[in-house]
Amino acid sequence: MQNTDKLKQEVKEFWNAQACGTQNIDKEKYTLDYFEQIEKERYELQPEIFSFAQFTRFHGKKLLEVGVGAGTDFLQWVRAGADCYGIDLTEEAIAHIQHRLQLYDLKAHVKVGDAENLPFESNTFDIVYSWGVIHHSPNTIKALEEIIRVLNPGGSAKIMVYHRHSLLTFFFWIKHALLKGKPWKSFAWVLWNKMESIGTKAYTVREMNEILNKYNLKDVKVIPSFSYYDRLGRFNKFMQKTAMILANLIGREKVGWFLTIEFNKK
Ligand SMILES: C[S@@+](CC[C@H](N)C(=O)[O-])C[C@H]1O[C@@H](n2cnc3c(N)ncnc32)[C@H](O)[C@@H]1O
Repeated sequence: MQNTDKLKQEVKEFWNAQACGTQNIDKEKYTLDYFEQIEKERYELQPEIFSFAQFTRFHGKKLLEVGVGAGTDFLQWVRAGADCYGIDLTEEAIAHIQHRLQLYDLKAHVKVGDAENLPFESNTFDIVYSWGVIHHSPNTIKALEEIIRVLNPGGSAKIMVYHRHSLLTFFFWIKHALLKGKPWKSFAWVLWNKMESIGTKAYTVREMNEILNKYNLKDVKVIPSFSYYDRLGRFNKFMQKTAMILANLIGREKVGWFLTIEFNKK
């Protein structure tokens, strides 16, 4: 097996063991309570998703979500009346969204699929959405090219990848490099080895703009978004205060963990 195939298999095993966003849920799996708790927690922690996605503006549009995870955002697109298609690398994610659609009596097209080889014709979708996914795939650039390929001319992409020059990366580096006596390890190294599935990447604003410049796109926006994770939401009050002092000194708008990307295909 080639190295990238092996890496993708490891990524798949990681996310297949437990669907993304279900780690703190204490309700019985696949019940209504289970899904309601997933949804409540997601938008309490990541309310910025609403202003970025703008779910209700895509009524009647043909939409693809790449990497649906437990399917919470996908559900919002379906509820908003988009013609929805969703893929994920894992059976576990697809089982989650299938249960949710059934539970709420909603219709959409979901299947297991690979972001690096999207199972759709070119020029098919009005919008492609992908939140926190393609940086986990071994060939992130191929996944990005696939998103561009399946978009209709004039179609829009809304993508989030992790931001390397963020407060979260800095605290993560302190924990996994500095305090482990390995201060020479880079931000990229700690993210690759310690952040969720193996091989996770993160980009700077400049790197992402340089990547996107190579394609036939317009209205490109690459903007960091300050998140619950940068505020160290799961840590103690002292750590949270330290994070906010640093964030305010540097400028919150520069150091968010979520790098939001929007563009239209020419
Ligand atoms: C951090 S979760 C995000 C899921 C969802 N978008 C969310 O925000 O909750 C990452 C997801 O990406 C999926 N994924 C990773 N590599 C993928 C690939 N090559 N193709 C499709 N999905 C992939 C994983 O299976 C997992 O469900």
